[in-house]
Amino acid sequence: MIERFEPNRATQAGFAAYHDVVTASQAADRPGEPALPLEELIGRMKKPMPGMGRAAHWVGLRDRDVVAVAEVLFLDEENSDIALVNVKLLPKHRRAGIGSALLRAILPELKAQERRAIESWDVVAGTAGQWWAETVGLRQVRRVVRQALITATADRTRWDVPVPAGYRLEYWEGTAPESLVASYALARGAIHDAPLGDSDYRWPEYTVERVRAAEAELRSQGILQRLVVAVHEATGAVSALTELCVHPRRPDWGYQRDTAVVAEHRGSGLGRCVKAHMLCRLVVDAPEVRWISTTTGAENTHMIRVNDEVGYTTLPALIAVQGEVAAVEARLAAVR
Ligand SMILES: CC(C)(COP(=O)(O)OP(=O)(O)OC[C@H]1O[C@@H](n2cnc3c(N)ncnc32)[C@H](O)[C@@H]1OP(=O)(O)O)[C@@H](O)C(=O)NCCC(=O)NCCS
Repeated sequence: MIERFEPNRATQAGFAAYHDVVTASQAADRPGEPALPLEELIGRMKKPMPGMGRAAHWVGLRDRDVVAVAEVLFLDEENSDIALVNVKLLPKHRRAGIGSALLRAILPELKAQERRAIESWDVVAGTAGQWWAETVGLRQVRRVVRQALITATADRTRWDVPVPAGYRLEYWEGTAPESLVASYALARGAIHDAPLGDSDYRWPEYTVERVRAAEAELRSQGILQRLVVAVHEATGAVSALTELCVHPRRPDWGYQRDTAVVAEHRGSGLGRCVKAHMLCRLVVDAPEVRWISTTTGAENTHMIRVNDEVGYTTLPALIAVQGEVAAVEARLAAVR
């Protein structure tokens, strides 16, 4: 039986059952990695992460037990035609047609929300998710390298990176200084050069208004956004940036997000410099952060190398898969 799961009406037991599926599925596909805490899952289900649009959830039940879950994020702005789908099953219930049944059950909602394409970014390469995706008509469009840094064991001498001549570093939390915000919004656009493979996802077009709106959204969720930027002394322009977020319900975890160097400033070591400086600040200001995670397109060898240099280790890769809703529907009609 497949049911909608409404986070605003769910009980603690309902969330716990949902969480059990997520945790067991992750333990099977990413053994040894810390599980998402229940409270963090509940928070994200009630209010999706900034920039991810509105969410909807389903559960698959067998004999009244939740054995499968599905989350759909209806991306917005430049990605309003994409539904980001994540289906997960308890390992012992896999291969019984439940994943396909869940996907089939959510298709009417995807069409009602005028979604053209389905993407899923959370498939661990070489696991059931990859073979299943192919079967249901989702093709691989991108490979993503996952890297993690454990602060307790990291070699901190690697963070001793000098600031290239002609630049100074600035640091802020939550709100870009008024004097830099316009230049910072422009610099964020440098992320557009980060490869997205054949994914239909489009990076946001940053403006001062969107930067301020994103900051406000993060603040409203209690997420602490830390920025290290490099300012080009001659022009006063932000030429590189790196962003790391810590969530209130997961204080031991750092989400290393965008790092971007403006095109004309590349090749001077600014990427490594801002990233290393972020780590130096973080371990002093937030010693409770024990694990930092980041993802990078597999073709983005420069970023991956920078991460290696500052002490990240590489985890099993992810693949992003994608298919047109109509094509997936046709494929699913043929699968049991
Ligand atoms: C991917 C997942 C949801 C599939 O759910 P499922 O209920 O086991 O899948 P189904 O039984 O509907 O599989 C349908 C078809 O997909 C293919 N398939 C599924 N798992 C497979 C595997 N491990 N190896 C090879 N083919 C597989 C088969 O063709 C299968 O049909 P068959 O069993 O008649 O041969 C489940 O394995 C899972 O939770 N994985 C972890 C999370 C994940 O990667 N989700 C995908 C992102 S949306």
